[in-house]
Amino acid sequence: MNDVTRAVVVARTPDGPPAPEDFEVVEVPIAAAVEDQVVVRVDVLSLDPYLRSLLGGAHLDDPPVAPGQVVPGRSVATVVESRSTEVPVGATVLAETGWRELAVLPAAAVSPVSVPDGVPDSAMLGPLGMPGLTAYAAHVRHLTPGAGETVVVGSATGGVGSVAGHLASLAGARTIGIVGNATKVELARSLGYDEVVVRTAPDWVEALHAASPDRVDCYLHMGDQATLDGVVEHLAVGARVSLCGLIDQSNGAPPTRLRAGALMAARATVHGMVVHDHADLAADHVDRVAALLATRRLTLLEDRYSGLESAGAAFAALMSGRNRGKVVVAVSKESQS
Ligand SMILES: NC(=O)c1ccc[n+]([C@@H]2O[C@H](COP(=O)([O-])OP(=O)(O)OC[C@H]3O[C@@H](n4cnc5c(N)ncnc54)[C@H](OP(=O)(O)O)[C@@H]3O)[C@@H](O)[C@H]2O)c1
Repeated sequence: MNDVTRAVVVARTPDGPPAPEDFEVVEVPIAAAVEDQVVVRVDVLSLDPYLRSLLGGAHLDDPPVAPGQVVPGRSVATVVESRSTEVPVGATVLAETGWRELAVLPAAAVSPVSVPDGVPDSAMLGPLGMPGLTAYAAHVRHLTPGAGETVVVGSATGGVGSVAGHLASLAGARTIGIVGNATKVELARSLGYDEVVVRTAPDWVEALHAASPDRVDCYLHMGDQATLDGVVEHLAVGARVSLCGLIDQSNGAPPTRLRAGALMAARATVHGMVVHDHADLAADHVDRVAALLATRRLTLLEDRYSGLESAGAAFAALMSGRNRGKVVVAVSKESQS
């Protein structure tokens, strides 16, 4: 067994949107596995926007990740050594490994990966994992769209958005995806959105109004202040809003504010999303979304990078809206083919 492994550490705490130089690949020591531990090889690593808040010390009650520390993160991994009777060598598992090639973990902290035939294991990091559960929970607990209602989804082509829009369509709603640039319009349409609005276009509010003549019944907010303001000013009476992602605030913009007058006029209900509150939905979520993936009614849209050294640049691209789908990094050679 190696006594070091390659890992990505924080080189400096990002100031505003993260840059590749905020991260550095180094060798870190790795301890030998003891009783009830396993050694895993990271195959595919998930990159998620919450990490930006974590690096800045602003993610819920979590402690900040200081310079020099390995960046946290979840992976699909292969067990390469086991000191546990519960987890065999060769098992494919989901684990909080951090951005590294090898990790030593308690066997109890890894869980088996199970995906339908024909669906890549990495779906456990996207539609079948935390982003998919976020979309599912927002759909069934916050937005509850009915047939014919109008649902607006921010970050429409991302890890959460690509699932949320599809669930709303299946409920018979009209769906409007919001994207950051014109190159994502066709992508959003291919995911099934009825209408697509480019939030950075000068006339985007007019475009939103044209796309939703009866106003907006449900809004999954994952975006910036200007997008939130534009949609909230166009809510229908009885609207439901799920506040899910405040990406500009995560990147250092001032705290997001709500237009109380518009919400009051719409008699709107505003929900705050924290996906961990909805763990009880995980089994339903996986059943439902796995069936959609298995029958190819839901597209697995991955923005896949290769090699641990690409993780910093991939994260910078994600946090500035240059991703197309769920961002993952194929770390092991076996997963890069
Ligand atoms: N509350 C929770 O429990 C929870 C759980 C999971 C995710 N989230 C949040 O949900 C959001 C989506 O997560 P995800 O993993 O699916 O990420 P993602 O959508 O794949 O990527 C982030 C997207 O944010 C969009 N964006 C909107 N305004 C932006 C701005 N001002 N600057 C940069 N990007 C901007 C970009 O898309 P466009 O450029 O196309 O708009 C970018 O692609 C994130 O904000 C995340 O933190 C929250």
